[in-house]
Amino acid sequence: MREVTIETKLKVYEGPEHLNEEIQQLMNAAIEARDNAYAPYSKFHVGTAILLDNNKVVIGSNQENASYPSGLCAERTAIYYAGAKYPNAKILKMALTASSQNQVTDKPIPPCGACRQAIAEYELKQDQPIEIYFMGAKGKVVKSDSLSNLLPLLFENSVL
Ligand code: THU
Repeated sequence: MREVTIETKLKVYEGPEHLNEEIQQLMNAAIEARDNAYAPYSKFHVGTAILLDNNKVVIGSNQENASYPSGLCAERTAIYYAGAKYPNAKILKMALTASSQNQVTDKPIPPCGACRQAIAEYELKQDQPIEIYFMGAKGKVVKSDSLSNLLPLLFENSVL
């Protein structure tokens, strides 16, 4: 038996005002998208903005459904739209923000496990890391240089 330690490196910014201009703009696009979320059941609004290497920004927000599992998270709404509309573009950066109507969301909200797996697919496909910035409605922003930092031991298609 041998024990393995997996380490992850993240950067924490005290607030969005500490991000560079490009990321602030991307985060603002995510906030705008978040405000258009359709989340009447959870009242938890999530927005995502994706910057592609063709300079386009693709956004997404969570879309809920009366049949709860039929809804979709903001991150997957956005990344599947990017994949559908610009199949050959590389995904450079993603900005995520979440806001609850029930409480102040002042801590960074990372993407859920299913969204991490979905983002990983595109990172592997393009063979280039995707930078991910995530926050709540206010407060700290966390940056991950790559999706792989957020999902060690991810499921890869090489095993199929
Ligand atoms: N949600 C997202 O959009 N992204 C995540 O990473 C976590 C959760 C959405 C799904 C659902 O509409 C609501 O937030 C509450 O789970």
